[in-house]
Amino acid sequence: MKTNASEEDVKSTSMLKTRVNSNKNSSKDFDEWCFQQIPEIPLDAKVLDLGCGNGKQLHLFSRAFSSKSGFWGMDISRESLDDVAKTYTSRPKLELIEGSFDKEESYSAFSSQKLDLVYAAYALYYTKNLKNLIKNAYNSLKTGGIFWVIGPNSGTNDEFLKILRPLHEVEPFMDYVFDDFMPEVIELSKETGFSSVRPSMLRNKVFFPSADAFMNYLSNSLFYRSGHDDKILMAVQEVVDREGVFAVSKNILSLQIRK
Ligand SMILES: C[S@@+](CC[C@H](N)C(=O)[O-])C[C@H]1O[C@@H](n2cnc3c(N)ncnc32)[C@H](O)[C@@H]1O
Repeated sequence: MKTNASEEDVKSTSMLKTRVNSNKNSSKDFDEWCFQQIPEIPLDAKVLDLGCGNGKQLHLFSRAFSSKSGFWGMDISRESLDDVAKTYTSRPKLELIEGSFDKEESYSAFSSQKLDLVYAAYALYYTKNLKNLIKNAYNSLKTGGIFWVIGPNSGTNDEFLKILRPLHEVEPFMDYVFDDFMPEVIELSKETGFSSVRPSMLRNKVFFPSADAFMNYLSNSLFYRSGHDDKILMAVQEVVDREGVFAVSKNILSLQIRK
């Protein structure tokens, strides 16, 4: 399923940074949880990040590996990859691939050297062909290697979707992302030949201390449709007045899928 959002918004590194910053004020530490999930693979492992953006997980995960390991980050956004190149300081060698995870040629580096881990966080639902992408991930992995997908689960963002839905259409892509995408990853991975799936779940809450803080997040997200700001502000302000904060659910699923 395809989003109605523009390609510029999907690729925008400044919008991504604003959203990542807004998500920091949360009940549980998402990064810490992800770090603890890093699978048991060799310290000199070869690892690929699909849709690495400005390198949130690349910076975090590469810290767990030795200088003999190798990391690759793939993204279609040149701007985000430039950001990664400027800020990367970990031991493992890092190569950045500017390209689409939907294109066969983006994986050409991995036809001879097979990978221990291919992971993606909050990125693969932008694919035009999930089945094909999973096949490319499978072919890039060694036997026993792990395909790790981190993404949203049902219930995510329910608090503000309840406010948005009566005001304007929320595109069907969003329902796909929250309800159908991760189950589809499981189904297609099994079809592709992966041998087992290990799920893990984090129930988190992101806190917006004011209606303005929430609007800043919303206007940098793919949910944003102009023309409704006043009504959204009022509805969020009501919650902040009543509860002291606007809390939004982030139910996060990690799937570690073994070849
Ligand atoms: C929501 S961001 C997630 C970035 C990072 N994984 C994180 O969690 O912060 C999604 C990323 O996927 C990238 N992306 C979207 N479509 C892509 C494609 N076809 N091929 C490669 N990257 C893509 C975007 O440019 C963006 O950086």
